[in-house]
Amino acid sequence: MKVLVVSGSPRKNGNTMSMVKIVENNMKKIDESVDFEYLHLIDKDLRYCRGCTICLRKGGHNCPLKDDAPSILKAMNEADGIIFASPGYAAMVSGLFKNFIDRFMYLDHIPELIAKPAMIMSTSGGDGVMGAPKYMAKMSFYWWACNITDIIGIGHAFYVINDKKRLKIERQLLRASDKFYDAVRLQPKPRPSFIQYMYFMFNKTELEVSSTGMPFRTKVWEENGWMKMDYYYKTRVNPLFKIIGFIAFGGMKLVYHNLLGKDADTRLAKYVLEN
Ligand SMILES: Cc1cc2nc3c(=O)[nH]c(=O)nc-3n(C[C@H](O)[C@H](O)[C@H](O)COP(=O)(O)O)c2cc1C
Repeated sequence: MKVLVVSGSPRKNGNTMSMVKIVENNMKKIDESVDFEYLHLIDKDLRYCRGCTICLRKGGHNCPLKDDAPSILKAMNEADGIIFASPGYAAMVSGLFKNFIDRFMYLDHIPELIAKPAMIMSTSGGDGVMGAPKYMAKMSFYWWACNITDIIGIGHAFYVINDKKRLKIERQLLRASDKFYDAVRLQPKPRPSFIQYMYFMFNKTELEVSSTGMPFRTKVWEENGWMKMDYYYKTRVNPLFKIIGFIAFGGMKLVYHNLLGKDADTRLAKYVLEN
């Protein structure tokens, strides 16, 4: 079993990695065959997104930037579980991690890591501790349909200076490691959370209203059968989520047609082709 750590800290032995090491040690205590691979974004040639949106229109493999992005994606695909880790910078992810998010943003709409066990970890000095990890979950890994087992934000100053806090954090990391280990071992396909279902429905509705405008995305969705499914895989979606989704996305279709006109799809297709 292989766990990949994608780290957005420039400090390979800094606070965030010291917390990840606790998780690694705990998991290796449960099962010594668990293998950890560290992908430090600081070592990678991952250039800034140029905003051409080719990844969204033609797929990530057509990105004009020739750098380490394909090997990073390959490593994520091959891992049995991923720990996404970033320090909190101004209550956000680090610049390194934000660039990673931007470069792989197309996975929000053309997902490849569906149900992949993922744990989100962040350390900050002590304020805005949950800003970075919540952002990572909401803006990326829920969209990607990963199976997020925990979203952890640690005030590192408290860990260092307060014995009681340190014990509490270590217990939290122990519980998180157990949960993550089970997910990595069993590879479950859990029922989607509300936010995951809404993201799925948003993607599906977008394609229903403008399939010719997004031919590559439509092709991937149709090939995978997602257009006819309730979620990316066979599962029981909470009936209340379905009712809310039906109303919200039915409304989205109405707004789209009323505001942009019935031929919006063809006009969008023309625009995409020309730009
Ligand atoms: C540019 C920068 C911005 C930071 N912003 C915050 C912040 O908003 N809140 C906070 O509590 N700590 C902040 N910190 C402190 C780091 O989040 C904290 O030391 C973290 O544990 C560093 O992780 P690392 O050692 O893995 O890089 C900041 C540090 C840097 C370098």
